[in-house]
Amino acid sequence: MTIKIIDYGHSGEGVGKSQGKVCFVPFALKDEEIQGEITSNTSKFCRVCLTKIIKKSPLRLEPPCPYFEKCGGCAFQNLKYKDEIDVKLYMLKNQLKKVGFNGDIDVFLSPNEYGYRNKIKLFCCGNDLALNKIGSQQLVPIKHCLIAEDRINKAIESVQTFIYAKNLGKSLENVYIRCQNDEIIVWFKFARKVNVQFNGLQIMLGAKAGIYSSVGKSELQHISGIEYLSAKEFDLDCKFLPNAFHQVNNKVSEELYREVLSSVVGDIVINAYSGAGVLSGIIAKSGKTVYGIELGASEHQSAEKLKEENKLNKLFNIKGDCAKVLPNLISTDLQTLVVDPPRAGLDKKVCEAVNASNIKRIIYISCDSATLVRDIARLNNYKIKKIKLFDMFPKTSSKETLCILEKFDDKKL
Ligand SMILES: C[S@@+](CC[C@H](N)C(=O)[O-])C[C@H]1O[C@@H](n2cnc3c(N)ncnc32)[C@H](O)[C@@H]1O
Repeated sequence: MTIKIIDYGHSGEGVGKSQGKVCFVPFALKDEEIQGEITSNTSKFCRVCLTKIIKKSPLRLEPPCPYFEKCGGCAFQNLKYKDEIDVKLYMLKNQLKKVGFNGDIDVFLSPNEYGYRNKIKLFCCGNDLALNKIGSQQLVPIKHCLIAEDRINKAIESVQTFIYAKNLGKSLENVYIRCQNDEIIVWFKFARKVNVQFNGLQIMLGAKAGIYSSVGKSELQHISGIEYLSAKEFDLDCKFLPNAFHQVNNKVSEELYREVLSSVVGDIVINAYSGAGVLSGIIAKSGKTVYGIELGASEHQSAEKLKEENKLNKLFNIKGDCAKVLPNLISTDLQTLVVDPPRAGLDKKVCEAVNASNIKRIIYISCDSATLVRDIARLNNYKIKKIKLFDMFPKTSSKETLCILEKFDDKKL
């Protein structure tokens, strides 16, 4: 089938029409005319695999990565960075129109277009390390990933050699590799118990590396080397367990945190979905009283370590579900609520409690603009004051958005 691409979809795929049906075509660019084959079909739309470009967009670039279009992790290696940002802004604007926002959107660009990711999740395809093709079960063997930091790519080489030497492919579920500066931690997640010596890998990775393992859903076991990844965030000494959430792009998250800190009003702040507590710590260090709420055990443990090591007496880390904890924590003197939920967005109960409160300012950090827009609509006592795109995930279609909301009836802020 031949399709003229007229728009972009939610995941950055080209959108066109054929025989009255909307077609989503990954990796096709606006204004292109393409040929493709249907991969899935419903009564209203179909997904199409691009097979040939008949009319090329003048913006199209040769992608630098051999796995582009195969692993599906990146959507925009075929565009210059500036054009990629234009597409992301266009997509975000279209979504925000649904809640009546037509204002300007600020942007913070990632200083690194490639080599920015500080973590990677790999699968095993036989003894080959692989990525899981987005939206399918298919595994795509890879030797490197261009959006990952160099240190991760070097570790992939060593881990790959080790898996081959020990023939671990059939018992391994995943390998997670994370780095901070010159430190690296590799975590092997096995499907079943295996007897394996990791000394050889520890030597290959060096002294500033650590190895963990786990079996199925069991707890992580530290095998050798460093136990935590350490980082200096603003003035804070931070230590992260390998399975605790940490933002993937250090340079962009630093700028995002700076913007959040400068947007806080009042002396008391709730930081909901607070992860390993870095942002809570930064705000507490500035003299505010901060309540961080986090469900994950490893994140909570890392946040407690951060509080202790940096003597943050005004930081209170609460382990629990925001839907249950937040409604009981809101007080009349609370002026700023920071939320940074996972892709699913805010629980309805969180929106209801916030709507009924006197909170003046909500600083919403979102990694999914569809749920952000849904939540803005639910937070109907608040209006948008500012929107800023932080390009945390260059080359991919994911968007990190900072949205500042203010209570309708407050004119003093
Ligand atoms: C996008 S991360 C934000 C982390 C943090 N703001 C940061 O910058 O590092 C979302 C966090 O929310 C946590 N989380 C998910 N569901 C939750 C819930 N219902 N209640 C509390 N925390 C939750 C996750 O464990 C994760 O650490």
